[in-house]
Amino acid sequence: MNTSPSYLFAPNDKAKFKEYLQSVDVSKIKSFILMDTNTKKQCLDKFVTDFPELQNADYIMIRNGEQFKSLESCQLIWKSLTENFAERNDLFINLGGGVITDMGSFAASVYKRGMQFCNVPTSLLAMIDAAIGGKTGVDFMGLKNMLGSFAPANSTYIDIDYLKTLPREQLNSGYSELLKIALVASKPLWEELMTFEYNDIINKPEIIAEAVRLKDGIVQQDPQEENIRKKLNFGHTIGHAIESYSIIHGKNPLLHGDAVAIGMICETWISNKVSGLSDALTAEIINKVVVSSGKYKLNVDKAELLRMLRNDKKNSGSRINFTLLGDVGDARIDQTFSEELIFEALSYYFYL
Ligand SMILES: NC(=O)c1ccc[n+]([C@@H]2O[C@H](COP(=O)([O-])OP(=O)(O)OC[C@H]3O[C@@H](n4cnc5c(N)ncnc54)[C@H](O)[C@@H]3O)[C@@H](O)[C@H]2O)c1
Repeated sequence: MNTSPSYLFAPNDKAKFKEYLQSVDVSKIKSFILMDTNTKKQCLDKFVTDFPELQNADYIMIRNGEQFKSLESCQLIWKSLTENFAERNDLFINLGGGVITDMGSFAASVYKRGMQFCNVPTSLLAMIDAAIGGKTGVDFMGLKNMLGSFAPANSTYIDIDYLKTLPREQLNSGYSELLKIALVASKPLWEELMTFEYNDIINKPEIIAEAVRLKDGIVQQDPQEENIRKKLNFGHTIGHAIESYSIIHGKNPLLHGDAVAIGMICETWISNKVSGLSDALTAEIINKVVVSSGKYKLNVDKAELLRMLRNDKKNSGSRINFTLLGDVGDARIDQTFSEELIFEALSYYFYL
C-alpha cells in the first residue's frame, strides 16, 4: 500500500502541485472535482484560477453536512463517474472539508477497484487531520465511519487561504483536532498553542505544517492502526459515541471537533484517575479545551451511549479501548477500565 503521498503547501508548493498535475498528464485525462454546496461557492473559483489546467474538469456536488457522508452520496458519485465514462487513470479531486475528503477518497478508492485521487482540504480539520493518513469512509446506520478503507491520496495540497471563508464554528471544530495532535505527540507544539487564541491559527501556517508532519510521522510508522496510530484516537472513543448519538438524536448535530472536545475533556479526566496525568496538567488541558471549544449541553441516554461505545471500531473483544495521557506528548494506547468511570467522566463534564 502506498502510505507516503506528498503533502504540498501553498504558496511555495503550488508549482509542485502543478508538476503533479503534469505528471498525471492532466490535459489528456478526465478530471473530476468533488465538492459540497459551500466549497463550490467558496473554494472552486480560487482552485480553478490557481490551476487553470483543471478548467475542463467535471464537477460532482453533494450537499454539505455530516448527514450526507453516506452510501447514498457515494452512489451519486459513482453514477456520475460511470455516466462520464471515468477510467481508473482519470483524476478525482476532493475539494472540501473532512466529509468530502473522507467520502470522496472512499468512493474513488473502490470505483473500478481504485482510481487515482488527490485531496485539497479546505477546512482546518481536513488540513491537519482528515486529509492526512489515508483513512476513508462513510457513516452507516447512524454510526461514524462504519464503511471505509485505508487508501492514501496520491497527493494532498494544502492552501491555508481557504480558511479565510471557513465559518468560525468550523475553525473552532478543527482546532480541537489540533489540540489533540499536540496532546498525543508534542509537548513543544502544545506549549506553542498555549500562547495564542484559537482564531489566530489562520495566520500560523508553520503550526499547521507541524501538525501535518506529526500526524504523517505517526501514520508512516503504523498505516493500518495496529499500534501507535491508536494514539490519535485520544478523545475519540467518547467523542465518536457522542457524535453518533447527536447525529441520531439532535436537530443540530454536534460538529466532529466539538464532540472530540467533549471526548478529550472526559478522557483527560479519566487519564488523571487511570494513567497518572498530573492534577496541574489535567486542569490546564481541560481549561484550554473548554476555552477554545465552549461547553455543550449533554443529555444522553446512558444505555444507548454504551451500546455505541461497544460498537466502536477501536474495540477488541468485548473491551472498550481508550487512548489516555500520562503526560502531554505521552499517549498510552489500549487502556481499559470500568464502564462506571466513563459515566463518572460524563457527569464531570455535565457539571463542569
Ligand atoms: N479520515 C480521517 O482520518 C479523519 C480524521 C478526523 C475527522 N475526519 C472526518 O472529517 C469530518 C469532519 O470534517 P470537517 O469538520 O471538515 O467537516 P465538513 O467537511 O462537513 O466541513 C465543515 C463545513 O465547512 C464547510 N467548508 C469547508 N471548507 C470551507 C471553506 N474553505 N469555506 C467555507 N466553508 C467551508 C463545509 O461545506 C461544511 O459545511 C467528519 O466526518 C470526521 O469523521 C476524518
